[in-house]
Amino acid sequence: TGLTTLDYGFVNTAATRSAITYIDGDAGILRYRGYPIEQIAQNSNFLETAWLLIYGDLPSASELANFDDRIRHHTLLHEDMRRFFDSLPHKAHPMSVLASGVSALSTFYQDSLDPRDPEQVEISTIRLLAKLPVMAAYAHKKSVGQAFLYPDNSLSFVDNFLKLNFGNMAEPYEINPVVSKALERLLMLHEDHEQNASTSTVRLVGSTEANLFASVSSGINALFGPLHGGANEAVLSMLGEIQASGQGVEKYVERVKNKEQGVKLMGFGHRVYKNYDPRATLVKESAHEVLAALGVQDDLLDIAQELEHIALNDDYFKERRLYPNVDFYTGVIYKAMGFPTRMFTVLFAIGRLPGWVAHWREMNEDPATKIGRPQQLYVGSPARDYPRR
Ligand code: CMC
Repeated sequence: TGLTTLDYGFVNTAATRSAITYIDGDAGILRYRGYPIEQIAQNSNFLETAWLLIYGDLPSASELANFDDRIRHHTLLHEDMRRFFDSLPHKAHPMSVLASGVSALSTFYQDSLDPRDPEQVEISTIRLLAKLPVMAAYAHKKSVGQAFLYPDNSLSFVDNFLKLNFGNMAEPYEINPVVSKALERLLMLHEDHEQNASTSTVRLVGSTEANLFASVSSGINALFGPLHGGANEAVLSMLGEIQASGQGVEKYVERVKNKEQGVKLMGFGHRVYKNYDPRATLVKESAHEVLAALGVQDDLLDIAQELEHIALNDDYFKERRLYPNVDFYTGVIYKAMGFPTRMFTVLFAIGRLPGWVAHWREMNEDPATKIGRPQQLYVGSPARDYPRR
């Protein structure tokens, strides 16, 4: 129509109203349901924050206990899912394995014909929260050629996940409280970020009345890319490349500034934040704490700090208001915890799941929702007659 405006990347176009997350990118503010992210990180835990995002307010103690209990009772995967995982190549990227696994969930668990049936939505929410970490750990175990473990429902959400990843059948596994606390904090920091690419994908797919599993697996695929969640993996590759080159950090920054093909400062810049990403501040604190507590010395952390220092004082980055984002320091922590690089974005996906679910549900509860269907400006050939041969 005559009213269509062209907005590459949806820089100026709001596609929805939302009451879940507030961001002021100029001031570096992030709030979940009104609560500042700093206070969430300090006081909450992963499941409590998930409840807050999904149901709109903090749970009572009994609501939280019940939520936790229901999730623990749904951690087991159908045994046929094992064969499904077995059939995938062991070299597969864990993000592809995870997205495929979530897609497969709707072949096992989509009981109702109406994907918006409230009971179906509720049980699908619980199943996703319970099973995503188990599938993520399977993806990890598969990639390193180890046997899958069964979940241990006596453990908390995060501890169960750690045991599934790092335990083995030969010896008892002891949870390291430093790792457990830090992972819980990192997952909380990832829980929602309003209309980012993966959440918008979940909403767009969900707007067709596709089920929650199908929508979330699409979100996982959207998160995979290095400009989005895949940035945490890309940061570590970049730091490793700088270290291996032996040419120093300045040389790399020069290549970024010269806009060499494919060379960016990964973990820097953000569509919304034109100031320090408040999550990056919190992650940076964790990086120092975790490495110190684990007694890990990692030159990559030094390289990251040097990069940050140079970039924050350089006109190229200052003029463009490029600051570290959430992905800049997470990889160094995940590495110290023992996760392989290819698991980093999977950890982001587990963290982001409550946000995806909250947005899917908010969209379906909003009577104003319509199928997502962007306009285009046609720039192709005018009408022409097919040649007679
Ligand atoms: N390194 C070097 N230059 C950059 C970077 C970067 N990381 N980010 C943006 N720029 C430059 C860009 O080249 C452009 O310069 P110019 O005006 O001369 O053409 C200017 O800054 C504006 O950038 P843009 O590409 O228009 O910004 P955008 O809002 O479209 O992109 C972004 C946002 C996050 C995709 C981008 O900053 C980026 O590619 N960053 C690196 C990848 C990354 O860390 N992604 C994680 C984002 S946060 C968490 C998440 O979503 O997963």
